[in-house]
Amino acid sequence: MTIRSNLAGHHSKASINVSGNLHHIDWFRHTAPYIRNHRGKTFVIHLGNGALDSGAFPSLIHDLAMLHLLGVRLVLVHATRSAIERAILERNIESQLHRGIRVTDPQVMAVVREVTAAQRLQLESQLSTGLPDSPMRGSRLRVASGNFVTARPLGIVDGVDFQLTGAVRRLDAAGMTVLLDAQAIVVLSPLGFSSTGEVFNLSSEELASAAAIALGADKLIIMDAAPGLLDEDGQLLKQCTVAEAQSLMINDPQQAAHRDTACRACEQGVPRAHLLNFNRNGALIEELFSHDGAGTLISREAFEQARRANVDDISGVLELVRPLEESGVLVRRSRELLEQEIGNFRVLERDGRIIACAALYPFTNDGSAEIACIATHPDYRNQGRGEHLLLLMEQEARQLGLSRLFVLTTQTSHWFLEQGFEQRDRSALPDERQKLYNLQRNSSVLIKAFA
Ligand SMILES: CC(C)(COP(=O)(O)OP(=O)(O)OC[C@H]1O[C@@H](n2cnc3c(N)ncnc32)[C@H](O)[C@@H]1OP(=O)(O)O)[C@@H](O)C(=O)NCCC(=O)NCCS
Repeated sequence: MTIRSNLAGHHSKASINVSGNLHHIDWFRHTAPYIRNHRGKTFVIHLGNGALDSGAFPSLIHDLAMLHLLGVRLVLVHATRSAIERAILERNIESQLHRGIRVTDPQVMAVVREVTAAQRLQLESQLSTGLPDSPMRGSRLRVASGNFVTARPLGIVDGVDFQLTGAVRRLDAAGMTVLLDAQAIVVLSPLGFSSTGEVFNLSSEELASAAAIALGADKLIIMDAAPGLLDEDGQLLKQCTVAEAQSLMINDPQQAAHRDTACRACEQGVPRAHLLNFNRNGALIEELFSHDGAGTLISREAFEQARRANVDDISGVLELVRPLEESGVLVRRSRELLEQEIGNFRVLERDGRIIACAALYPFTNDGSAEIACIATHPDYRNQGRGEHLLLLMEQEARQLGLSRLFVLTTQTSHWFLEQGFEQRDRSALPDERQKLYNLQRNSSVLIKAFA
């Protein structure tokens, strides 16, 4: 079967699954909403300590080039701390740390300048290679750097003079915007200038978050050698609010600093921050163009707190779902049935009103669970609430040790396909659910399996 013959005529989802190439086409189509969403947006990307030396860095450069080509406005901030530390050790230079921050005396400053210049050159040259031997071959990237950062001395803390260690005082957002408008990638090094003509050594994390805030960036992406934030069980947290991120106990100081940077940026107006592993090939693309992502997404606005429904929510849920039942989108549930099953529901409440709901029915013997009755009030749609509830349901199913979600739907299959579900035959349902299948509704069966 050739792709062309498949594309020429109508083909079922089953035929798509038998062809690897068609799977790619399908995947590409599913990335379209992400491409549309990201175009014209500003992302500040912090390349953490060690990123430039990572084996995955050449692929990261390609991925950055691709994002640029797709219309994303990129600002790159590179971290120099570990390279400076290494150079100081190699040269036997005595250097003092206070509260984990380096005191930058003139001798250390010479190293800082050298390391920063070398890294900036490396970054600029890699972005200028024309990307041979890569899918981005021939793309010409314009890279800009300059005196965008004004700094002030950190001063004397606990009697310790930090000398040329500085803090960000101001950023020339207007100047950077002109360059971003001209399709340049802006590179920021963690150095700042003062009106007195001095150069200050800055924290790259502080610079990245200050840049994201000053530019009104849509995302701050912090790339580190760690996969993202982990929950109490050591599992990767795919998504959390600022408050949830702040409540985590993190032992590694660098990870904690990155978490704090992300939270600070979110609190000061950056809608989303991501923590990603730079050693994972393709992490950036996976995070930005797939539903599952590759790291941790921290969002400023807590969605309305999703909570387990109780009997007091029955009227609110009925009010939300009745119009959808009447139009045949959802299966009708009597109040009595809803009373029995309310424990399976999760709801989002806003100002005392239920604005979204979803139910999870586990089929433990089959290792699966059914998603049912997922709905968002029409006034509150298209802001990610449905996706958020679905993610919660998936987390719950995982916690129950299940490995598959399925849904029966008549009018919403495309939404589920975009959320990573695949269309399947009715026979893929658990036996007991097959017996209850309503032939008249002729619903599509969609399944999402997870590891
Ligand atoms: C499906 C539903 C729950 C999504 O809720 P939501 O809070 O808007 O979800 P999200 O914000 O995460 O997703 C919105 C995206 O899904 C798209 N979408 C919504 N319904 C869709 C459908 N039936 N088919 C394809 N895409 C759909 C929207 O256009 C939007 O995409 P866009 O931002 O690219 O325009 C909501 O549209 C709804 O309540 N629909 C009626 C009930 C229903 O069909 N439930 C499923 C029964 S099995």
